[in-house]
Amino acid sequence: MRHLIDPLDFTRQETDRLLELAENIIQSPGAYAHRCAGKILGALFFEPSTRTRLSFESAMLRLGGQVLGFSDAGSSSASKGESVADTIRMVSAYADIAAMRHFKEGAPFVASRYAKIPVINAGDGGHQHPTQTLTDMFAIRRRRGKVDGMTIGLCGDLKFGRTVHSLIKSLVRYENVRFIFISPEELRVPGYIVKEVVEPSGHRWEEARAMEEVMPELDILYMTRVQRERFFNEEDYVRLKDSYVLTPEKLRAAKPDLSIMHPLPRVNEIAPEVDNDSRAVYFEQAKGGVYVRMALILTLLGLEKGILDGEEA
Ligand code: NCD
Repeated sequence: MRHLIDPLDFTRQETDRLLELAENIIQSPGAYAHRCAGKILGALFFEPSTRTRLSFESAMLRLGGQVLGFSDAGSSSASKGESVADTIRMVSAYADIAAMRHFKEGAPFVASRYAKIPVINAGDGGHQHPTQTLTDMFAIRRRRGKVDGMTIGLCGDLKFGRTVHSLIKSLVRYENVRFIFISPEELRVPGYIVKEVVEPSGHRWEEARAMEEVMPELDILYMTRVQRERFFNEEDYVRLKDSYVLTPEKLRAAKPDLSIMHPLPRVNEIAPEVDNDSRAVYFEQAKGGVYVRMALILTLLGLEKGILDGEEA
């Protein structure tokens, strides 16, 4: 049985194939409308979510399956002190596959050890968010057609931003990628990501404090929100929250084919006037999340077989 806890749980080839499947689902949604009939997704959300939870639910419903779950820890037995291990043991009897978001790093991994069903990490604390990475890779593939050779600026809260950590893990598997990490000193990308992921890959990387310095070089600008809920004190958050605000003025120095990405939710880091810029990818990026999650559910349930070869599963 397979789980998706870390982006590296899928090889690059498996990831590419999954994104191809998502593309196929967009082209012929009718062919997939009943593939998960009789299957149930458990959506276990111990932390707030809009896009991730709703896109998982939408994905399962569009596959003809059903969904049960909860959307905050307070309404689950975690509030009575139940362990993640016990929760997933029970959910294994109620559902065929589970998506778990948790405020504790490693909670979905622990769940996967005790589960009798595939477990998907839908975001664990400030650690990883592999399904957002699939969504991001899908957006890059659709907009740019390739990942190789891109200069990618990751901007904002690179310390607590789990989407950034997962995206870097996936990107290093492509050729000739150049990373520019743009953050305040306090929110730099964690040392373990640089040492264990970026450096061994041999890709070029550098850091910048101001986005203006590097704007003309970027092919992709991945903006992120400062992760308020992971700060120890409110003053630090208030001081850092507006470190970067992308405006049309700042974009004047950018390439005409820059791709502006953001996992959303956005707070203040992209001015609304940027939304109409043809380089803004973030809303189309979020839309793709449904198809990518459909492809993921099919893959983990072993129901994807034969689809890409044009056979009936
Ligand atoms: C992200 C997350 O939850 O980490 N949101 C999402 O899933 N699209 C980004 C964020 O909350 O800043």
